[in-house]
Amino acid sequence: MRKLTYYIAATLDGYIAGPDGADPTGPGGFWPIPGDYLQHLIAEYPETLPGPARQALGVTAPGTRFDTVLEGRHSYEIGLKAGVTDAYPHLRHLVFSRTLPESPDPAVQIVSGDPVATVRELKQQDGKDIWLIGGGMLAAALYSEIDQLIVKFAPLTTGIGIPLFGRDVGFDPRIWQLADHTVLGSGALILTYTR
Ligand SMILES: NC(=O)c1ccc[n+]([C@@H]2O[C@H](COP(=O)([O-])OP(=O)(O)OC[C@H]3O[C@@H](n4cnc5c(N)ncnc54)[C@H](OP(=O)(O)O)[C@@H]3O)[C@@H](O)[C@H]2O)c1
Repeated sequence: MRKLTYYIAATLDGYIAGPDGADPTGPGGFWPIPGDYLQHLIAEYPETLPGPARQALGVTAPGTRFDTVLEGRHSYEIGLKAGVTDAYPHLRHLVFSRTLPESPDPAVQIVSGDPVATVRELKQQDGKDIWLIGGGMLAAALYSEIDQLIVKFAPLTTGIGIPLFGRDVGFDPRIWQLADHTVLGSGALILTYTR
């Protein structure tokens, strides 16, 4: 069965964005991406690079892991504000929102229903794994459905920000099995955990 993977960049203190929702690796972000980190993503996770980045870097590899990406409305709107209506045209792209009246892009599906039910349905379909890109609110809603966690820890702390599972998640301890790890010279750490 297809797995749901929460693949996300985080600070050492567990934040995925600044307190105002600032994208850590976006333009003017607080984590300038190191060269070895970018090379690792290109080699291992090419399908997770946004379309414009793939184009700029000459990346055409389809990737081996994901063919579908699930995104919360706040995260989707970061690209939208920059004029990008579909940052992942090489993937099936679902955006969860109960307020967006219609999709700004025919290739992007707006889902207003229950994310858990949608994920359970997607898992029954054929295909590669499903990438949960975030943000924290959507990850909290899908906490029970996550089969794999890939956290790209940046060698920085921020003290405050949007946590991995948002600000409004319940207390629900879960033990994860370390399946893989990569330590980069720049200090980034990529950890893969499974349930
Ligand atoms: N570090 C990384 O790799 C990374 C990756 C992705 C995103 N981010 C960061 O994450 C931040 C956004 O995170 P966030 O937690 O504020 O928001 P989010 O999860 O991206 O989006 C929240 C929105 O998603 C929709 N949603 C959430 N749960 C839902 C549910 N159960 N049913 C239906 N719709 C649901 C709602 O939209 P409506 O209000 O329209 O209903 C909600 O307001 C961004 O600032 C971005 O920088 C970081």
